[in-house]
Amino acid sequence: MSENIAKTKQGGLAGIIAGESKICTCGLGNGLNYYGYDIKDLAANCEFEEVAYLLNRGELPNERELIDFRRVIKAQRGLSKELKDLIRAVPKSANPMNLMQLVVSALGALEPEKDNFSNQNEKIARLLGVLPSALCYWYHWVSYGEEIEFNTDYESIAGYFLSNLRQKEPKEDYIKALNCSLILYAEHEFNASTFTARVCASTRSDIFSAVAAAIGSLRGPLHGGANEAAMHLIESFDSVEDAIIGVNNMLERKELLMGFGHRVYGVGGDPRNAIIKEWSRKLGGDTDLFKVSEAIEMVMKDKKPNLPPNADFYSASCYHFMGIPTDLFTPIFVLSRVSGWTAHIKEQRANNKLIRPNSLYIGPEPREFVPMGERK
Ligand code: COA
Repeated sequence: MSENIAKTKQGGLAGIIAGESKICTCGLGNGLNYYGYDIKDLAANCEFEEVAYLLNRGELPNERELIDFRRVIKAQRGLSKELKDLIRAVPKSANPMNLMQLVVSALGALEPEKDNFSNQNEKIARLLGVLPSALCYWYHWVSYGEEIEFNTDYESIAGYFLSNLRQKEPKEDYIKALNCSLILYAEHEFNASTFTARVCASTRSDIFSAVAAAIGSLRGPLHGGANEAAMHLIESFDSVEDAIIGVNNMLERKELLMGFGHRVYGVGGDPRNAIIKEWSRKLGGDTDLFKVSEAIEMVMKDKKPNLPPNADFYSASCYHFMGIPTDLFTPIFVLSRVSGWTAHIKEQRANNKLIRPNSLYIGPEPREFVPMGERK
């Protein structure tokens, strides 16, 4: 007990084992594995849907299973009139993460999960299928005042999303890069949003409530919002020289540089970074923006070697080079991480115990109640 209290005092539950999971190892030997498969192998060889299947079932699909899984997700892309009406009511000024939360909550109201969770897999397919549609529909409505005609040619979520976002055929490399990024973002053990989802699921709540709660946690710049914050940081510098001076000044002022550092990975860094950095280089390596990104990384390596870039830093430029608007970066994270959240919700449900820790009380000693008339 006293050791637990000492750890709690470090803050943020750092280093606390908060439960068992078979889904992912994060930071063991600086590795990242989904159900035992190295993220490097998954990113190099898989489609995102293969990885979503792995997270959902615990095994990679064979060819037939992957075709079926994709077909099921594809059939779940449609937006009902009620959903469209709700989405159109969300103004352009809104944070798109609130849109994502609204859509997920609306699904809970309009297409509820059964109380015994027997249709949880159908609901997971619904989330994987419909969220890209909702985001593209909203983006076009608030940007151009138009309801888009969905291009349904693409089987993959990456191709479907990009073709509908841009309303044109995406370059093959863009689809591959987004596919890779979705794999990298899919799962990450007991991170803040996944833990939120598990806490909510542990009360035996429905899957939509647990996912909506997780989206709220992902929104913050210390978590998923870091990819957008990293983009703003990179774009705030006009040149490599400007970036070197600017980052040094920020460090002197003890400001946070978004896209650097990680609670679990040590100096060895986030294994996802090298993978997404290569995609960023491939899509925009000759641009000033990429050179500025590398200059920021170089100063950080020099001044803060214990804070290497995390997956969010080069995801930012990678998405930017694909022509994705910055305020959609974190919602894209949702399109991917929903596979990890729902895997954890299923795991939590399979062996549920209400998650309800204690706090270490540091408030006032018991004291006499003061009636209203006697209060100062
Ligand atoms: N830039 C500058 N300094 C940083 C930093 C960063 N990105 N990340 C951590 N630090 C500094 C902290 O200011 C702190 O300094 P101090 O000891 O002088 O107070 C020290 O490093 C330890 O950081 P701390 O915030 O206690 O670590 P943590 O484990 O709680 O935080 C993160 C982990 C990810 C929240 C943190 O590194 C961060 O805020 N990074 C930027 C946001 C980000 O990229 N999030 C995405 C994560 S995948």
